[in-house]
Amino acid sequence: MARITFVGAGGSVLEAEAEIGQSVMIAAQQAGLDMEGACEGVMACSTCHVVVDAKWFDKLAPPTEEEEFMLDLSYGLQRTSRLACQILMTDALDGLVVTLPNEWRNMMI
Ligand code: FES
Repeated sequence: MARITFVGAGGSVLEAEAEIGQSVMIAAQQAGLDMEGACEGVMACSTCHVVVDAKWFDKLAPPTEEEEFMLDLSYGLQRTSRLACQILMTDALDGLVVTLPNEWRNMMI
């Protein structure tokens, strides 16, 4: 298991656990967070946009071109933005911190 801290846009904090290999999006949903994940992880919606804490960002596998394309369409894009469905938990990511934006753009509707 690996720990993830989800920080709400208003500053609320939720600690959750994820299986190794599980996506941050699934971990968020299992923790009861309102992360839609409309395309179920196939990079077609951007409703799983998160902003990764800067100290964790370089520990992530780099985004694919497809992920960067979807991120460009996200509201509130920041330098450390990622799609939570594309972040797969590893032992090295134990303690990961991500912030949930106020709004998501669903490119599927
Ligand atoms: S769930 Fe749709 S892009 Fe991540």
